[in-house]
Amino acid sequence: MESFESVCDYLKAAQPVNPVLCHRPHTAARSARWFLQNFPGDVLYAVKANPAPLILDTLYEAGIRHFDVASLFELELVKGFAGARHYCMNPVKHPDHIRRMYFDYGVRDFALDCMDELEKIFAACGYADDLSLHVRITVDNSTSCVPLDAKFGAHPDEAAELLVAARTRAAALGVSFHVGSQAMNPMAYASAISRVNSLIRDTGVIIDSLDVGGGFPAAYPGMQPRPLDEYFHVISEAFNSTLTSETCRLMCEPGRALVAESASMLLNVTLRKREWLYLNDGAYGSLFDAAHLDFPYPVRAIRDGQEIAGDYDTEFGLYGPTCDSIDAIKRPLSLPAGMREGDYLEIGQLGAYADSMRTNFNGFGERDEIVVMDEPMLSLFNQPLQTGLRLSVSAAYSDEQTRD
Ligand SMILES: Cc1ncc(COP(=O)(O)O)c(C=O)c1O
Repeated sequence: MESFESVCDYLKAAQPVNPVLCHRPHTAARSARWFLQNFPGDVLYAVKANPAPLILDTLYEAGIRHFDVASLFELELVKGFAGARHYCMNPVKHPDHIRRMYFDYGVRDFALDCMDELEKIFAACGYADDLSLHVRITVDNSTSCVPLDAKFGAHPDEAAELLVAARTRAAALGVSFHVGSQAMNPMAYASAISRVNSLIRDTGVIIDSLDVGGGFPAAYPGMQPRPLDEYFHVISEAFNSTLTSETCRLMCEPGRALVAESASMLLNVTLRKREWLYLNDGAYGSLFDAAHLDFPYPVRAIRDGQEIAGDYDTEFGLYGPTCDSIDAIKRPLSLPAGMREGDYLEIGQLGAYADSMRTNFNGFGERDEIVVMDEPMLSLFNQPLQTGLRLSVSAAYSDEQTRD
């Protein structure tokens, strides 16, 4: 893959027709190192957030040795990493996938949230006695931007029964939860851990691990998270006051926070119609979350290899390339008034849940890939590794351009 100092340098040499995925692997290495140095337990990377081989290699080289995979496809991507341990934390799985993960790939860690899944896992693994089971419980997701509690998680009465049943058959037993993605309040973890504590107290079951899931936030315009070390501090305090903390392993499972900064997308304006820009990528591609979840992203406009000078004071709606009217992003973007066909937009913070959401609908799935060495438009990590991180906004993305 070709490398460039910056996206503008690349655009001085090329006029790409396809959308271009601009990887910044150095940012993924930095955030991984930060998590590994500061989280008081094991860090599992949730492969779904960004399964690009370049990023997986980078995270592994930075020291990540635990991988959460939801499917056989994701497992294939990380199975070759020496010394790595793989966890299938998807609470509902096809029995054939469980069987193959256990027998062909050596996976021993499986999540579940109901009795039927417990039976299914045991049957698929030939009633093995070496399983690590992680009972996923439901917890409050209200401080997150992407709640995940509707679909998964055992409710308190079911969780107690499940925990007791799993304890008698698992070699190692854990509890896991997810506070929802992009959780804006660290206290969500404290209240979830206190729920685990009540469960332990009520059932008398000893657990071997507590997995606090993902949910750690990244920076987006108008969404400045609390410093991540505050999250870790809250988790540490809450964990240390649980009944089994002395013998229990603490784990987390971040996706977004590790990789959000690790890619931007470079998109081409194919037409301007009044205050609408038609782009070569959209809701069926890397702008899925912008279109469906109303996520805000930082943006800069580029013409002839240079950022377009002038105020970002005109609101434009954005349409993607397909023939579908819902191929549009929800909120308008503030851009220079003179935007026109042929201009490029670089949209930042698209390292998590963007390229992996791309479809081939209408035949628009193709995109190019490059590596760029410069800093992302927004970053939580582009300063020396330390605690007390504050959001830093790079020079290329000044305060005036911040949208709410
Ligand atoms: C089981 C599981 N673990 C971890 C993650 C990663 O979450 P996040 O990207 O919010 O850190 C997810 C996201 O959907 C998940 O479903």
